[in-house]
Amino acid sequence: MQEKYIDETKQGEAFAIAEKPENGKKLFLESYGCQMNFSDSEIVASILNEQGYNTTLHVEEADLILLNTCSIREKAEQTVRMRLSQFKNLKKEKPNITVGVLGCMAERLKTKFLEEEQLVDLVVGPDAYRDLPNLLKETEDGRDAINVILSKEETYADINPVRLGGSGVTAYVTITRGCDNMCTFCVVPFTRGRERSRDPHSIIEECKELAKNNYKEITLLGQNVDSYLWYGGGPKKDFEKATEMQKLTAVNFAQLLDMVAVAVPELRIRFSTSNPHDMTEDVFHMIAKHDNICNYVHLPVQSGSNRILEKMNRQHTREEYLALIKKAKEIVPDIAFSQDMIIGFCGETEEDHAQTLSLMKEVEYDYGYMFAYSERPGTPAHKKMEDDIPADVKQRRLAEVIALQGELSRKRMASYVGKVHEILIEGISKKNKNQWKGRNSQNAVCVFDKMEGQKLGDIVSVFVHGNTQGTLLGETVL
Ligand code: SAH
Ligand code: F3S
Repeated sequence: MQEKYIDETKQGEAFAIAEKPENGKKLFLESYGCQMNFSDSEIVASILNEQGYNTTLHVEEADLILLNTCSIREKAEQTVRMRLSQFKNLKKEKPNITVGVLGCMAERLKTKFLEEEQLVDLVVGPDAYRDLPNLLKETEDGRDAINVILSKEETYADINPVRLGGSGVTAYVTITRGCDNMCTFCVVPFTRGRERSRDPHSIIEECKELAKNNYKEITLLGQNVDSYLWYGGGPKKDFEKATEMQKLTAVNFAQLLDMVAVAVPELRIRFSTSNPHDMTEDVFHMIAKHDNICNYVHLPVQSGSNRILEKMNRQHTREEYLALIKKAKEIVPDIAFSQDMIIGFCGETEEDHAQTLSLMKEVEYDYGYMFAYSERPGTPAHKKMEDDIPADVKQRRLAEVIALQGELSRKRMASYVGKVHEILIEGISKKNKNQWKGRNSQNAVCVFDKMEGQKLGDIVSVFVHGNTQGTLLGETVL
């Protein structure tokens, strides 16, 4: 069964670097998992571009193969292991190629990777990418190389990411790294370390640069963006130790949104991911205040049951979550929400499951990402709780949740019909090359016939006349 209802990121896409400083070596870089990993790959590409690496989309031509990996669920790790095993023959034919593992699996498995996966030469955690040039020298000398040191400060603020694989219209801008929330099911705090925020000035510079280069939309990224807090550097948990001056001049997420919206009025602004526990009303007021901040929030809840939320250490109740959604809808009446759900967490009863379904109906999410619980080694849930829901029960409940989200999505998409929407043209429809595809402010995908004079990156008024479960069908308003 497909776990994800809508697949947002293309898994395992290889990218090409635009510029060619040439050292004769070719890099094949593949990213798995969350948007953050895709954004990190742009940093890695930038660091290696400086070293003269050019990229290739063909693994057979590569001198260096890097996989930026994900540990969030067991399946994500299996995908990477399978991919690695495909490189075995290649390595037999070309023993000089270097194969490296980056990202969360590198951090989680550390030296185990070098021992278990014999063909891996290089293991680099998410905070150690600046060390890649040195590590590559070690591999050139025939040694395995590893750096999985997590940092309390690293934000790669000064590195200008090489924009990879996109259409030149939308881009990611990382604003925080790591996570301090310690949801009991989640491996991220262990693989990405302590939460820290990036200097707002470097964020704004990056956004301005993107605007100058004709980008039209940015997504501010972090594991937990609404927890953003800049006070001059260092981990968020040390904020209490900051000086009075630092505290007075600190910038929170709502303030950052305000600054970015004013600095780049020509850009649409989105952000992801938010944690309901850290979300403040101020953020919704900022969405209402600025036309260029999109009316859409991805607000993962994971479960509709208070009992399960507590076991997950989500630090909010069902009632608090629903109150937040209600408030948001008052402040921004046409706001849209999407969710993440974990189905079959330790001890989940049929009653808990029913609570999840009822919460979904109450919120009426536009869409969602739904997953069967996957126990991750080393997490608090693994240490203290039993993964006791049988696989078939998880799958049945997951199917019910996915089916309900399908109904809700169809209903939400239908609510957009009969109205004019501002659609940013992001690409050509996969099904019909005579049609554009783009999204409205609420993040709903819309396809419509191309018209003369329209081009990628234009924002056009589209009348929506129909819908499928996940897509709006429209035509340009003349
Ligand atoms: N920071 C986000 C979540 C990041 S992880 C938040 O606040 O919720 C992305 C999603 O992966 C999570 O929302 C969760 O739904 C899913 N996920 C994380 N750990 C998981 C696990 N052990 N099993 C199944 N799904 C998991
Ligand atoms: Fe994971 Fe919870 Fe942080 S889901 S990324 S520990 S907010």
